[in-house]
Amino acid sequence: MEQKPSENVIDEKKDSFKILGIGSSLNKKSTSTRILQITLEKSRKYGATVSLLNLREFNLPIFNPNKPRETTHDIIKINEEVNESDAFILATPDYHGSMSGGMKNFLDYYWYEFSGKLFGYIVSSHEKGLTVIDHMRTAVRQCYGWSLPYGLSINSENDFDIDGNIKNVYLNQRINNMARDMVTYGKLLSKQFLYDVNTKQENTFASQFVKK
Ligand SMILES: Cc1cc2nc3c(=O)[nH]c(=O)nc-3n(C[C@H](O)[C@H](O)[C@H](O)COP(=O)(O)O)c2cc1C
Repeated sequence: MEQKPSENVIDEKKDSFKILGIGSSLNKKSTSTRILQITLEKSRKYGATVSLLNLREFNLPIFNPNKPRETTHDIIKINEEVNESDAFILATPDYHGSMSGGMKNFLDYYWYEFSGKLFGYIVSSHEKGLTVIDHMRTAVRQCYGWSLPYGLSINSENDFDIDGNIKNVYLNQRINNMARDMVTYGKLLSKQFLYDVNTKQENTFASQFVKK
């Protein structure tokens, strides 16, 4: 796919570290998006700048490789958010053992922008959502992104009390882990990737992202 490389990947390292959360359920009371919000808030406590891109609030057309990307206000806004971000958390419902169509469509718009960055995964499922996480991980791997070695799986039927609060203590622990690990490992990976690109290191996958 022909895409104009974003500049931020190879800019000088900024001090801030931004995590962008992608919520991809169109459900008003989405459990995956809610857990994403909580995880982002906790990441903020570990020093990240965070932003939530809830796809249900945007009109993102089905990706068309024959159309330029910067066509609508919504797409421009999404491009800005993606380009400014150093790491991503993808949240989706389990739809037929895979990610939502909205999430796949979002991912189809980008690849270069994901390279060298860390991704975390959240899935809401009646099962464990393992294949869903695997599918997102595969898409990210194709874009040269890194993945946390674990994901957050929410059982939408069992993990909440009748008021919608989390009642699963293990889930709370895993949210904390993800918030902490996204910031800690995300910064390390980001710093090394930028160093490799900026200093034109040759024996690394990062060399393909050096500006000619
Ligand atoms: C079209 C569709 C397909 C679904 N497929 C599965 C499935 O294969 N396995 C599963 O455990 N749940 C499946 N579900 C249930 C959703 O994953 C579940 O309700 C989830 O909690 C929704 O997440 P949300 O609250 O973030 O929207 C499906 C739901 C829909 C609407």
